[in-house]
Amino acid sequence: MKHEVWEKEYRSVDNLWGFTPNSMLLNYTAFVSKKGKVLDVGIGEGRNALYFAQQGYEVEGLDISKTAISRCQELSEEYNLNIKAEAADIREYDVQKDEYSLIILSNVLNFFSEKDRNEIMTKLKKGLKEDGLIYINVFDNEEPSIKKAKERCKQVADFTYYDEENNMYHHYFTQGEMQDLVEDYTTISLVRSKFLDNTHGKPHYHSTLEILSKKPKV
Ligand SMILES: C[S@@+](CC[C@H](N)C(=O)[O-])C[C@H]1O[C@@H](n2cnc3c(N)ncnc32)[C@H](O)[C@@H]1O
Repeated sequence: MKHEVWEKEYRSVDNLWGFTPNSMLLNYTAFVSKKGKVLDVGIGEGRNALYFAQQGYEVEGLDISKTAISRCQELSEEYNLNIKAEAADIREYDVQKDEYSLIILSNVLNFFSEKDRNEIMTKLKKGLKEDGLIYINVFDNEEPSIKKAKERCKQVADFTYYDEENNMYHHYFTQGEMQDLVEDYTTISLVRSKFLDNTHGKPHYHSTLEILSKKPKV
């Protein structure tokens, strides 16, 4: 059911999220080792993946939306880049162990139940190499769109709303919760932001938490 929601979103416009990579990723690119690959989970049309491929990284990505994947592949071909992008559900996706220097979860983790979030994090952390980085960007509990979730969905836990019609969750993170996801890692950067988003649709405000963390050596 869930992929249909995203399909509908992608089919409604030519480019959903713009082409600008997340600024924290731009700022810390030099920290990402080329000895491992980059994995973009919920790659969308590839705004972050295309950037890392341009910088000479070996990039893989997955997304539940076939439309998003085919757009990402088209863009990758247009710019003569090599991104291995596949239509898949992260909950069923096999992540290779100790494979990645960077794993990107940009605006993805909000849409899962707590159980799925925990399982996804466990799987991704195994996929990182020692000293590998994980980047997570989520809506926080002051995000303005929480109002819509409250109106349309059933509250099932603190800051968690279940959209029955589309069989998907909307979870808004507290800062403590975000830090707990990577409590065993070293924080490189943690930023809470409020900003006007004019990259897609009508300009609108967001409230987000972004973290870049490093996996420790065993
Ligand atoms: C808000 S968009 C963000 C896209 C992209 N990461 C970016 O920042 O531009 C969320 C993305 O997660 C994908 N997604 C949602 N559920 C997924 C799942 N179970 N497995 C893989 N991708 C999923 C959606 O199709 C969508 O492309």
